[in-house]
Amino acid sequence: MANWTAADLPDLTGRTVVVTGGARGLGLVTSRELARAGASVVVGVRDPERARPAVEALPGDVELRRLDVSDLTSVREFAAAWSGPLDVLVHNAGVMDVPAARTADGLDLQTATNHTGPFLLTQLLLPHVTDRVVAVTSQLHRLGRLDVADLDWRTRRYSPLQAYRDSKLAQVLTSLELQRRLTASGSAVRSVLAHPGIAHTGLVDHSRQKLVLRLGGRLLNDVEHGALPTLFAATQDVPGNAYVGPDGLGSVKGHPVVRRPARTGLDADAAAAVWRATELLVARG
Ligand SMILES: NC(=O)c1ccc[n+]([C@@H]2O[C@H](COP(=O)([O-])OP(=O)(O)OC[C@H]3O[C@@H](n4cnc5c(N)ncnc54)[C@H](OP(=O)(O)O)[C@@H]3O)[C@@H](O)[C@H]2O)c1
Repeated sequence: MANWTAADLPDLTGRTVVVTGGARGLGLVTSRELARAGASVVVGVRDPERARPAVEALPGDVELRRLDVSDLTSVREFAAAWSGPLDVLVHNAGVMDVPAARTADGLDLQTATNHTGPFLLTQLLLPHVTDRVVAVTSQLHRLGRLDVADLDWRTRRYSPLQAYRDSKLAQVLTSLELQRRLTASGSAVRSVLAHPGIAHTGLVDHSRQKLVLRLGGRLLNDVEHGALPTLFAATQDVPGNAYVGPDGLGSVKGHPVVRRPARTGLDADAAAAVWRATELLVARG
């Protein structure tokens, strides 16, 4: 459908959705619109007290739960507490261009937040998922140069921007491998991707990248439009492995349509290798 907006969401009454990082930025709009359409939305946040005012102001059936996606213990606790069906799992939480730091598990913080923690969350919640897993990735996956032997930045010199691009490519490849595994097992669950174009949020407030947002002005997506690809990917009849993004020039802004990820994101051998490497990271963490 051309010019799809949140007003076109179907009635989601009876459906349960998890949105990670759903109390701010694109995640907050995603949670709000899903709840407005009738879904029961569980918002997973790393700091529930900080998130409470924003989440309590949302309409409908919304529940706040603690979930730090970069912390494997927190991911395990969140998943262990889950009972009943989960229709849609939305991996929205993310950080970009952050300085080198290690999590309590000893993992690279940026990779753990954007890829490794969400990978584990998918594994643990998948037995509950009835419909689909949505990962919010970025066009910057196109500049990813994944080193599967050093996914976690232990031997390479850390680059904050390259770590982001690589983590977003890792997300794309993980989604591809997840879909392959789901299909092979005869599951009807779908693994799909969304990217918001470039949207005005707090993602890069701490870094020099914020200049891009400032200079970009109206050439870029606002936060409402930025959330549309996620909402579309989470609710519309897209094929497994769909990559949903804005329809405008360069997929920077606009309304959601199914597009194609980079060729590097469609490499089945790389996807299997990233999957194996991430399993090892999680097992060590
Ligand atoms: N904005 C863009 O142009 C753009 C472009 C491409 C992709 N994306 C992707 O879109 C997603 C949402 O980003 P945004 O633009 O909305 O940025 P944002 O406003 O900075 O929101 C990021 C969200 O992630 C949460 N988060 C960060 N680390 C977390 C952790 N360890 N555990 C749980 N939640 C955590 C944040 O929670 P706190 O409130 O606790 O910080 C916040 O709710 C990200 O995956 C990002 O990579 C954004």
